[in-house]
Amino acid sequence: MHRSSPSSSTVAQPTPEQLARVHHLLLEWYAHEQRPLPWRATSDPYAILVSEIMLQQTQVERVIPKYHEFLSRFPTVADLAAAPTAAVISTWVPLGYNQRAVRLQAIARQVVSDYQGRIPDSVEELLKLKGIGRYTAGAIACFAYHRQVATVDTNIRRVLHRLFIGLEHPEPRLSDAETLTLAEQVLPPGRAYEWNQALMDLGAMICTSASPQCERCPVGEACAAYRELSAQSLFPSGTVLRTLRKVAEKKSGYQAQPFTQSDRYFRGRIVALLRTLPPEQRLSLAELGPRIKSSYTEADLPWLQRLVSRLAHDGLVDYQEEEGVRLP
Ligand code: ADE
Repeated sequence: MHRSSPSSSTVAQPTPEQLARVHHLLLEWYAHEQRPLPWRATSDPYAILVSEIMLQQTQVERVIPKYHEFLSRFPTVADLAAAPTAAVISTWVPLGYNQRAVRLQAIARQVVSDYQGRIPDSVEELLKLKGIGRYTAGAIACFAYHRQVATVDTNIRRVLHRLFIGLEHPEPRLSDAETLTLAEQVLPPGRAYEWNQALMDLGAMICTSASPQCERCPVGEACAAYRELSAQSLFPSGTVLRTLRKVAEKKSGYQAQPFTQSDRYFRGRIVALLRTLPPEQRLSLAELGPRIKSSYTEADLPWLQRLVSRLAHDGLVDYQEEEGVRLP
């Protein structure tokens, strides 16, 4: 807890009961539903730095292959520091925003020249690296060194606001500094790593900006925004939620599409499940549904049919209406 911050008194404090409930629900959900991302399987600070810079403007699915390629080309911070900048950029290019590659290499060079090649482990020292902001410093300190620190990116900001403050539209009710204070106040002791990653997964998969899937949310029962919506008796299909989405879409320039972030998530689950089956074995959609979505009901069948047809169209599965689905 950082009660010394001048802004802390202005931030609404969740009750200890609410906090304990949210910790329990979200960490439990994360334990079962977390995305198996490669940077979660390492505590190499350099690899985590690379992932965080890549993730700043690029979606997870596009980052994964590049992350592996980049690390096999430049396996250590010293390799990256010593490489010709042109080689670094050309490895990076398909990701776009190539300035990030130059910035990453400059960080590597500063680590070699000022820190004997060891990436610092505290937020304070990490912030001395040119091009590292508070979010990235917090992410590296927490994910690489298991420091008990908060970190706030766009997803985490939105999730914390909705969970503990309420709807963030028409205007967020917290400044950046207040959001960081709140993030520090709600960190579960000793569990900062899972907590921060869980907030990111929730924000990416369920508590999205324009299409929040409150009906599937593991922390809905303890969420301030959900309570506000319910209190107005306008959930799930009433005007408040529609307004929330419209405002979010307008702000972000994003148009809700029939193919959502959660569809992406379930596509991944379908392919992962099919991989576990013996070759050639098919599953009917009735068998598949409950195995990829715990709340699956018959009413979800048209949705599942659409998902599987798209996967088949993309060549990722083989789907015969009569016989079911399997890997190609
Ligand atoms: N975006 C930024 N950092 C991330 C992480 N560690 N996992 C998933 N998405 C992220």
